[in-house]
Amino acid sequence: MQNTLLPLIKEHGTPLFILDHQKIRENYRTFKKCLPRVQCYYAVKANSHPEIIKTLFNEGSSFDVASYNEFMQVYKYIKHFDKGDKNFFIWDKIIFSNTIKDRETLRKIRRYKPLVTFDNLDELKKIKDFCNTAGLVLRLKVPDVGSQVEMGSKFGAEPGDADELITHAFDLGLTVEGISFHCGSQCTHFDNYTAALSIASDIFHNAQKKGYHLNIVDMGGGFPAPYDDQAPEFEKLAALINAECARLFPKDAELIAEPGRFIVATAAQLITEIIGKARRDGKIFYYINDGVYHTFSGVVYDHWIPNFRAFRQGKTEVCAVVGPTCDSFDKITLSAQLPADLKVGDYLFTENIGAYSIASATKFNGFDGARIIHR
Ligand SMILES: Cc1ncc(COP(=O)(O)O)c(C=O)c1O
Repeated sequence: MQNTLLPLIKEHGTPLFILDHQKIRENYRTFKKCLPRVQCYYAVKANSHPEIIKTLFNEGSSFDVASYNEFMQVYKYIKHFDKGDKNFFIWDKIIFSNTIKDRETLRKIRRYKPLVTFDNLDELKKIKDFCNTAGLVLRLKVPDVGSQVEMGSKFGAEPGDADELITHAFDLGLTVEGISFHCGSQCTHFDNYTAALSIASDIFHNAQKKGYHLNIVDMGGGFPAPYDDQAPEFEKLAALINAECARLFPKDAELIAEPGRFIVATAAQLITEIIGKARRDGKIFYYINDGVYHTFSGVVYDHWIPNFRAFRQGKTEVCAVVGPTCDSFDKITLSAQLPADLKVGDYLFTENIGAYSIASATKFNGFDGARIIHR
């Protein structure tokens, strides 16, 4: 590890965020291979770096966006198709899957005839008033228990309200194209997917009976990244999803998914430098030059527990690793097993930091955050 990383540190300094595009391609290809019927709409929110969008676009990925800016970040790559190619259909490349969109955003995306999600009546009315060119996907609340980040308390219509919402949309002159859900991020309870697909199938078929022809089944994100050997195997989840989709939905249903972390989590490493050291109440505190307001923002927003490794061997003990800001909240972990004799100027290494890291970093306290390099 040291042999390859030390020259990079020498050239670029720290904190250094190393983004591996070959790994992104590999993860994308694994996703496609294991779920051959499912079109991948990469969730840009996981890491919106323009080079990631470019890499995935070149692989043939589609994209899930959550804001006008994310929409335009992707649209930039497809606008020439949109203008020239008669067979081009924007839904094939972008889904706007933030269920709540402000009026101005709806007004701005109206001209692109987008595919958008919704989960309540007020949103339907807003879409009718400001973006009536959109195709609609109804987001359902589904079980997300045990996932690293649960979603159901903020998003998703109760399944019991779904029929009425679909009918209401058609009554307003809008078209519901399909159903979506999200089983929670880093979902390790595969039963969540089984339950969600079954709920979605009931609603899908009920709508069919009423004469509303739905076509899209969007299974959201949540696919677990292999942060450690405890993570369940994606291949097993994919086999389950393939079997359930074949059993529950028509052969010509359009299956889509919005993986974020699965595509990018394992594609980045971070190197930080120890800038201070103190023993407080008996415990060693390593102060490093990146923290929870910056690349380790996932500790707060993503309930993520980072791993740390030192470049040097030594007798280890439980240490705290904390960020550089003058805020006491800026503690990355209070329980990293690290050598006790590390010194100011030594480096730490964190793997699997590609998702929900630089995407939610701030400039708090005037720190710029990590330098990003690509390979
Ligand atoms: C609507 C939606 N789709 C997809 C994702 C990506 O989820 P994950 O990174 O767990 O794959 C999220 C994450 O917040 C989301 O809100």
